[in-house]
Amino acid sequence: MANKKYRIGVLPGDGVGPECIREGLKVLESACGKTNVKHELVNYDFGGDRYLRTNEILPDSAIEEFKKLDAIYLGAVGHPEVQPGLLEKELLLKIRFKLDQYINLRPVVLYPGVWSPLKDKTPEDIDFVVIRENTEGLYCGIGGVFKKNTKDEIAVQEEVNTYKGVERCIRYAFEYCEKRKSRKKEKEVTMVDKSNVLTYGHDLWMRIFEEVGKEFKDIKKGHAYVDACCMWMVKNPEWFDVIVTNNLFGDIITDLGAITQGGLGVAAGGNINPEGVSMFEPIHGSAPKYTGKNVINPIATIAAGAMMMDILGETATAENIEKAIRKSLSSGKFKSMDAGKMGMSTSEVGDLIAKSI
Ligand code: IPM
Ligand code: MN
Repeated sequence: MANKKYRIGVLPGDGVGPECIREGLKVLESACGKTNVKHELVNYDFGGDRYLRTNEILPDSAIEEFKKLDAIYLGAVGHPEVQPGLLEKELLLKIRFKLDQYINLRPVVLYPGVWSPLKDKTPEDIDFVVIRENTEGLYCGIGGVFKKNTKDEIAVQEEVNTYKGVERCIRYAFEYCEKRKSRKKEKEVTMVDKSNVLTYGHDLWMRIFEEVGKEFKDIKKGHAYVDACCMWMVKNPEWFDVIVTNNLFGDIITDLGAITQGGLGVAAGGNINPEGVSMFEPIHGSAPKYTGKNVINPIATIAAGAMMMDILGETATAENIEKAIRKSLSSGKFKSMDAGKMGMSTSEVGDLIAKSI
């Protein structure tokens, strides 16, 4: 949008988050400079270190501030000295829930020049998008425990599926599919569930999929149980165009997807509220053992920056970053996508991509 100045909240977070974000911002500066996209960065130090220092994870006042931003750019959360699950729940999931970022958009794309563990598969074959529901399912934390620490212990964890939540997610998937430049002749949304066993919640998904699907006459409707989906993602990834699924299944299959596209070093994701403030992040975690070594692969974070520009409507800027990533990866300079084995440092990767813009 002409003349618009975007306010972008930057949360580098823990571990390798800050070094990845540093390179992401380097590329963003270069790309926004070229297309004259004005933006202002608002820095936040939320994460494990701050929690250990102040005992505060993410106050509600920060959420209120986030609501006034145009987007959030997140590095990674997770700190070895903080009990597992705490920062995930009180920081990452809190932002997703409180900002109602109900879509988790995760492209599974094999860039040219990147090695995939899938034998005989090329960038032609691995190019689809997973739309993961991001605010419901088993992530709501509803449930309870009875007779804890006894042999009679009962633990219940509920899966929440609401009409509203499922409908808006499935609708987003069809709309996304309609707009997407697909390599397939016939566009297709595949719903992934476990409706053969989860007969209440996933029956709701099935009915809504059919109902919403009727509005999208030109899009083929596919269906796969999640177990079979894992198999097809390995054997025939070229079958997929857009996958829509619930929160937990989406979490699981996108790690599988990430390894088929060369690993967590390249996989980016967006937590999207189409009517509000969205947050963009690499799928990988904070990888504490690599912290400060300048060996981590920043491409996932850089690609998340491209996605941020795309969702903000700055398509040309997003495309320039994507093209620069592809060009750099095709240059033959990379030895691997894995931390410490790239044949280049984190900052050299950022420089290479920033200069290719
Ligand atoms: C992801 C992560 C998170 C999730 C964790 C850190 C809570 O695995 O973004 O995929 O499960 O959503
Ligand atoms: Mn995950």
